[in-house]
Amino acid sequence: MAVVDHFQRPLRSLRVSVTDRCNLRCDYCMPEDEYLWLPREDILTFEETSALVDVFLDLGVDQVRITGGEPLLRRNVERLVRQLAGKPRIRDLALTTNAVLLARQAGALKEAGLHRLAVSLDTLRPDRFTRLTRADALGDVLAGIDAAGEAGFSPLKIDTVVLRGINDDEIGDLLAYARARRAEIRFIEYMDVGGATRWTPEAVFSRREILDAVARQHGPAAPVSELSSAPADRYRLADGTVFGVISSTTEPFCDACDRSRLTADGVWLLCLYATDGMDLRNLLRRGASAEELRTLVSRRWRARTDRGALERLGSDRRSAFIPLASLKRDAHLEMHTRGG
Ligand code: GTP
Ligand code: 5AD
Ligand code: SF4
Repeated sequence: MAVVDHFQRPLRSLRVSVTDRCNLRCDYCMPEDEYLWLPREDILTFEETSALVDVFLDLGVDQVRITGGEPLLRRNVERLVRQLAGKPRIRDLALTTNAVLLARQAGALKEAGLHRLAVSLDTLRPDRFTRLTRADALGDVLAGIDAAGEAGFSPLKIDTVVLRGINDDEIGDLLAYARARRAEIRFIEYMDVGGATRWTPEAVFSRREILDAVARQHGPAAPVSELSSAPADRYRLADGTVFGVISSTTEPFCDACDRSRLTADGVWLLCLYATDGMDLRNLLRRGASAEELRTLVSRRWRARTDRGALERLGSDRRSAFIPLASLKRDAHLEMHTRGG
């Protein structure tokens, strides 16, 4: 039985970050020149991560997603995948990557037992990719996506953050690219999460506008009706192509949110917008037993009232959520530390 929070939301999904490092510098996530990194000695070993994951499985979690920073930068990440894939209580084991290193690793990840992959891809134009990410790596990313298909990851998901005036003119082309690879693309509204220091309300390209852009190139899309706690609302084109829209900014899904996050140094966060978390690393390294950890985690989840995105909706004159000065003091406030 899953424990439920103050609003009856079960604890079902755990996002496990394995590193805060990234090999890209996407403008919506890591626009600064310098970052404060988590101390190396604080990063959990795979054994520690695995022990903490077990605590969550005991409490009803059955969905685990490995994130970063960029998770493929973590040495031997496929060893952790293998360890987690061996836990039958994990019904769904996924990983989110920017795919720069995927061509080399897709086969090993599949072989280690990973169920699903999501790849971030915001543009198909090499010059634009370089401007947006500060790395000349579009070729590697596209090769990574092809390798994932060849390794048998199907259906692959592609995540696109849409930024007004930057890549909103590529929505139709990205959809066509995904369709040709039988991948399901999801268009994501730009969120004012910690780290998005350049966020402005004007830069958000809304769900409505995304659907209009799709319709202009591919005809109208009908909503797919389904019951799900996933953030993406799915739509179907006349030819059967399914795509998703994640409108976390204009229509948040907090009421159905069953997810929490573990940072690479073992801090447990109950909301993408949470400003603090529970330090499970410290408890674990001081010898807390699995039972003690279970008690603390379930007590904290039962008291959970977080609805970060929903609460941000009400604020007028909305601007970047966390000021740069605070990000410079606490890396845990950064989206790249929390995993996308
Ligand atoms: P699947 O459908 O199971 O593949 O996963 P998902 O829909 O949860 O997608 P994924 O975890 O890849 O997240 C996709 C995007 O949704 C992220 O990159 C974020 O932009 C957004 N997102 C994910 N988790 C949260 C969350 O907890 N809160 C909010 N507000 N947005 C989220
Ligand atoms: N807005 C929306 N999505 C974001 N991500 C990171 N920062 C933001 C943001 N400001 C998500 C994207 C990206 C993943 C790595 O993290 O989905 O693909
Ligand atoms: Fe969940 Fe917080 Fe995201 Fe709302 S803002 S969906 S509560 S993580």
